[in-house]
Amino acid sequence: KEIVLSGIRPTGFLHLGNYFGAMRNYVRMQEDYECYFFVADWHSLTTHPDTKGLRESVLRVIAENLAAGLDPEKVSLYVQSSVPEIAELYLLLNMLAYKGELEKTVTFKDKVRLNPQNVNSGLLTYPVLMASDILIHRAKYVPVGKDQEQHLEMARNFAQRFNHRYGDLFPEPLAFNFGADLVKVPSLDGAGKMSKSENQYATLYLADDDDLIRKKVMKAKTDAGPTEPNAEMPEYIKNIFQIMSLVSEEQTVTKFREDFNNANIRYGDMKKQLAEDMVRFIAPIREKANEIRNDENYLKKIMKEGTEKARISATKTIEAARELAGLKYY
Ligand code: TYM
Repeated sequence: KEIVLSGIRPTGFLHLGNYFGAMRNYVRMQEDYECYFFVADWHSLTTHPDTKGLRESVLRVIAENLAAGLDPEKVSLYVQSSVPEIAELYLLLNMLAYKGELEKTVTFKDKVRLNPQNVNSGLLTYPVLMASDILIHRAKYVPVGKDQEQHLEMARNFAQRFNHRYGDLFPEPLAFNFGADLVKVPSLDGAGKMSKSENQYATLYLADDDDLIRKKVMKAKTDAGPTEPNAEMPEYIKNIFQIMSLVSEEQTVTKFREDFNNANIRYGDMKKQLAEDMVRFIAPIREKANEIRNDENYLKKIMKEGTEKARISATKTIEAARELAGLKYY
């Protein structure tokens, strides 16, 4: 079986972007691939050094992934910091990663702009740690959203550099979405992508209750509607159609598209429909996640078993890496 890996940072509740960019594909891949999925707690320390809420976030991320359909019998589900082999590979790869290229990473520049007070070296080397997460299992496919594309490219570069310098060990990992373009779920306010940290009202969380979902959808940015047939669609309206196509029936989307083209669309009606379809989509995941979250012993057992599976694979890789790098002395 080909190897798949992906991770999610425990920096807050998971949202629709996490689901459609990543988790949905985890579930779809678990039958046919050897899968490793993990919670990136070390990565969250680069921006969230306060660990008071960390444990709760980690358990929540695991519960939501299980609620979305991951089967712990089929995949390894673990927490990054439970697999210290990742940190050792990170150390080795750091010697092959250049300050200049790290400083040019888009996510790094964004985070510096957002919080210039805390430009720590973990933040700078974030893509090196991410490459280690992937390469520690010699994964070939990495199901992620569009925002992770550059990190994957960097992982390929680090893999290549290691292979050239010390000998062939790592495949070059590819961002994966079943041959389709990587997904970017837009936010509801017409500005950028859905994210854990930005405008909370423009992000739909898998933990939102029904009324909050309705409220958020009804507040989504629209306008008075097109004044003539076949008008050009503004970006924020395209976004609503895109979100609708994720959770609504195809014929529903087609109907509103035709209404738009005929210049008789009523955005209020469209949003009401979207709100109901969204509630129908999110509610069962939320209920299931709450149930799983409350079974702490079950969650602990899954993390423990997932870690054991992950460390078997990680140990093999790190031993091979040490030996190739000339660090085996007896
Ligand atoms: P994170 O925690 O920000 O997001 C988890 C996953 O959700 C995807 N995603 C989206 N997809 C589509 N539209 C959106 N609006 C959207 N928002 C988030 C992300 O692309 C991601 O797949 N660096 C990673 C975590 C990580 C990782 C790894 C991923 C650490 N090591 C190794 C893969 C492999 C991150 O911050 O994801």
